[in-house]
Amino acid sequence: MSAIPATGREWHLVARPQGWPKPEDFALREVPVAEPGPGQVLVRNLYMSVDPYMRGRMNDVKSYVPPFQLDQPMDGGAVGKVIASNADGLAVGDHVLHSGGWREYAAVDGKRAVKVDPRVAPLTAYLGVLGMTGLTAYSGLLEVASFKEGDAVFVSGAAGAVGSEVGQIAKLKGASRVIGSAGSDEKVRLLLDEYGFDAAFNYKNGPVAEQLKEAAPDGIDVYFDNVGGDHLEAALSSLKVHGRITVCGMIAQYNATEPPAAPRNLALLIGKRLRMQGMLVSDHNHLQPQFFEEVGAWVREGKLHYRETVVKGVDNAVDAFLGMLRGENIGKMIVALED
Ligand SMILES: NC(=O)c1ccc[n+]([C@@H]2O[C@H](COP(=O)([O-])OP(=O)(O)OC[C@H]3O[C@@H](n4cnc5c(N)ncnc54)[C@H](OP(=O)(O)O)[C@@H]3O)[C@@H](O)[C@H]2O)c1
Repeated sequence: MSAIPATGREWHLVARPQGWPKPEDFALREVPVAEPGPGQVLVRNLYMSVDPYMRGRMNDVKSYVPPFQLDQPMDGGAVGKVIASNADGLAVGDHVLHSGGWREYAAVDGKRAVKVDPRVAPLTAYLGVLGMTGLTAYSGLLEVASFKEGDAVFVSGAAGAVGSEVGQIAKLKGASRVIGSAGSDEKVRLLLDEYGFDAAFNYKNGPVAEQLKEAAPDGIDVYFDNVGGDHLEAALSSLKVHGRITVCGMIAQYNATEPPAAPRNLALLIGKRLRMQGMLVSDHNHLQPQFFEEVGAWVREGKLHYRETVVKGVDNAVDAFLGMLRGENIGKMIVALED
């Protein structure tokens, strides 16, 4: 058993943000590290995930995940090494994926920790391309949007963790055309040159509706929405009859203090007989083995590319989270907790 340190640091939410979160809404606190309880493992976290949905958990509202409590550690996806174990099947030295992120040391119920193997994939991949965001892309496209070969697919947030995987899975599964939008010219180049998108545009360079029409003159069959607002409005206009929309996220409004101005054209759902469906990745866990096998093979064979933006140091975790909301990440935003 490795020595258990006396203390470790963890991030607490100390004030509920109004609009954009500020660094003062968070505090990094040093707390005692306890021995793991019965059935628990003590994990030294190596990587933690910062995700858009965490912004919603900072509000004191009832939702599909409970809000973060003030002056309590925040949580979220993390991968680490077991340093003490009272759990059957998990030994010191094992690597595990669990939900006790935002802290250096986490005591985790062994039944809620998933053993992962760094020889199969880099540990960070279990938080991104082969993890929660990857399964979101896979299930949201294939199951929720009922993607079929020949579909023309538009995805927003296309250079991010979910979006970059949606576009590439669509191409690998025989999409007739894949279009992506992202927030910088550098990201647009990446979509075209590395991820194989057929067309891409920077939504900051002009109206989304006009840029989408130019990129998809014959229309689209599927819109994978990560953004909402004017992106959703543009997609509704470009969708063909019987098109499908996966509503995965609406990041354009997560920090908004006013209701969104768009979409103003929802009535198009009627005449075009569109199907629009919200999703939560947790409803699609049954696809996990299939996802891991199929996407894992594409990654190994170099057919599916992925990027990660890794910020070093637990003290920079809030900056990483805020940077992700501002679009400073390419691919999955991850915090590395050890140097
Ligand atoms: N429903 C589910 O189960 C589920 C699960 C996972 C994720 N999601 C959702 O999926 C979406 C993507 O998540 P992710 O983890 O892959 O994050 P991500 O795309 O890797 O990172 C967030 C990106 O959002 C973009 N963004 C921020 N503000 C924007 C705005 N006003 N307009 C357009 N784009 C904006 C930024 O890229 P740009 O530089 O391009 O602006 C930023 O890089 C989010 O909406 C998230 O809530 C849903």
